[in-house]
Amino acid sequence: MTLILNGVAASQAIKEQIKQTVTQEREKPHLVVVLVGDNLASEVYVKNKEKSCKEVGFMSSVKRYDSTISQEALFKELDKLNNDKDIHGIIVQLPLPNHINANEIIDHIAPHKDVDGFHPLNVGNLHRGQSSFVSATPLGILRLLEFYSIDVVSKHVVVVGRSNIVGKPIAALLLNANATVTITHSKTKNLMHHTKQADILIVAVGIKQLITEEYVKEGVVIVDVGIHRNDDGTLCGDVHPSAYALSSAYSPVPKGVGPMTIAALLLNTLQAFQERGR
Ligand code: GUN
Repeated sequence: MTLILNGVAASQAIKEQIKQTVTQEREKPHLVVVLVGDNLASEVYVKNKEKSCKEVGFMSSVKRYDSTISQEALFKELDKLNNDKDIHGIIVQLPLPNHINANEIIDHIAPHKDVDGFHPLNVGNLHRGQSSFVSATPLGILRLLEFYSIDVVSKHVVVVGRSNIVGKPIAALLLNANATVTITHSKTKNLMHHTKQADILIVAVGIKQLITEEYVKEGVVIVDVGIHRNDDGTLCGDVHPSAYALSSAYSPVPKGVGPMTIAALLLNTLQAFQERGR
């Protein structure tokens, strides 16, 4: 029997818990999303974040700026948000226009409000095994595995992908959780040799249906972070459905990792709120 790692069910359970916690608070967690320009995909992400905040009783605001805003002016806007004690979490939605250096903007977010976990202090703390904000997708994956009681201790986890947002932080997070981790990527020689060793295979390489049945061993747990649109408008991941039959569990696309990402962002915002003033 293959278990489907249902991210909708797991995220609902987490949101329910958050909602219960927030109900007992007089003040409410407040997330601010900074949106520069009019990127269509970003508009969709931001709408989803606002909707989810509402569901759990958080306050949320979107600060919109014209695509022509200068980096200096954006720094000043961030200063205001950093210093506003009624704001607990800040996200600068990526991508930013080309004339703005995204890393310099991220570096300017107060680390204790950096609920995306992108600030170098949070990244560094994660790699030191210290408490920090962990970016939403890796944290969501960990929570999805926890929800289905999939133990990672001493397991061989193979990560396909080395991005700063998913591959690198999920590897660090799982190392901290006592898994044995191999990181591979699109230029890894004989990728199949590595992926076949995986007890847990996390695929975040951004190549549509790369991982077929030949890439996995029987009983593997597959977590698919990829998202691609088919010609007929349906969605699919980095994993080909032929690999599912060999697995003991897999996260589908859609309704797998995606909903967990938002739940993790809400968890980070709640954490920022609870640790405010500390
Ligand atoms: N753009 C796409 N995904 C993300 C995300 O997780 N955080 C931010 N800030 N921007 C994004």
